[in-house]
Amino acid sequence: MSLYFRPIRPDEIPDLCRLVDSAYSATVKRLFGNSSGGRWAHYQESKVGSYQQREPDGVRIGIRQGQMVTVCICRSFGKVGWFHTLAVHRNYQGKGIGHKAVLDAQRYLASRGVTNIGLMTWPAALSNIGFYQNLDYQMAGLSVHSYRSSSQALATGRSPLQSVLLSSLGEWSKEQALAAIALLCEGMMPGLDYSSWLCWTLEQDMGDVMAIGFEDELVAMILAYKQPRLDYLEGKLLAISPACKPEEQLWVLEHFRRWAANEGRASFGFPVDIADSAVAQRLQKLDFRLFDQSMLNMVKGDSWPAKGVHLVRFSG
Ligand SMILES: CC(C)(COP(=O)(O)OP(=O)(O)OC[C@H]1O[C@@H](n2cnc3c(N)ncnc32)[C@H](O)[C@@H]1OP(=O)(O)O)[C@@H](O)C(=O)NCCC(=O)NCCS
Repeated sequence: MSLYFRPIRPDEIPDLCRLVDSAYSATVKRLFGNSSGGRWAHYQESKVGSYQQREPDGVRIGIRQGQMVTVCICRSFGKVGWFHTLAVHRNYQGKGIGHKAVLDAQRYLASRGVTNIGLMTWPAALSNIGFYQNLDYQMAGLSVHSYRSSSQALATGRSPLQSVLLSSLGEWSKEQALAAIALLCEGMMPGLDYSSWLCWTLEQDMGDVMAIGFEDELVAMILAYKQPRLDYLEGKLLAISPACKPEEQLWVLEHFRRWAANEGRASFGFPVDIADSAVAQRLQKLDFRLFDQSMLNMVKGDSWPAKGVHLVRFSG
């Protein structure tokens, strides 16, 4: 039976959302029962529109006999790629369509220069884990949000580092900062480039980017989303150069804390891999707590992860 893949058209977005709702509502119900995790919230059309804006050909659908049967949303960051919201229509699951959708996502990402692909699934979703292992993905840690109150300082006195929010900069300085961030990421992992994500976040006014460094050298960056209804500054990406000493790393966190406090957010945090005990223990000693919602990271590719500190959760 013929099945082909292509980017979605705007008029097809409501169908895509219905398909995702039907596939995911059954899965979360099966995994989490009547707890809050088991209630699926409608997959918003506006969200898909913004994904399409961010990466026009990355919202992929599979068509069989004129009907949309599968969806997968891809993102590329230089050599690193990511896909999420993989779904097969409930009536068509178990027939090899999901497998083909992943192959399409891989082909699409490879065409954009991606050599390393990551994804997330629920740790309890054993059949999904088997499905991805079958496609040569390996488990790469449990991603959990760690968070902390913003009211108590992590380091006191005068910081050896300086920080700036990109939203406060003029066009020229912002471009300079983005170029320095691209260089930082390249130094952590050849080909790693988050520029498109950072620019998209700033354009959408969803969050901000903090660049942190010495006068002449950027050593860290943080991308955080400002969820309007939350009292939490949500770090999505934290990158710290391998050249940064432990006490400087602490100051990076302190700059993040001050950012959260200035925004009037009661807490702040970012994703960590709790399978990496050294990092998790260090953070817990600094009064970070783990938020009870974990996802399993799975990856495929040859050089993952990056050097230095590279904490990221792409989510949707
Ligand atoms: C997960 C999902 C996308 C899989 O799509 P699908 O079309 O049902 O899966 P397929 O029929 O393509 O399965 C492909 C392969 O995975 C294998 N597989 C499936 N479940 C497996 C398991 N529990 N253990 C090992 N292998 C498994 C199948 O054997 C098959 O391999 P084969 O072709 O070599 O026989 C689909 O079930 C879905 O939409 N689920 C709900 C939403 C969801 O959970 N999305 C993923 C979130 S990360």
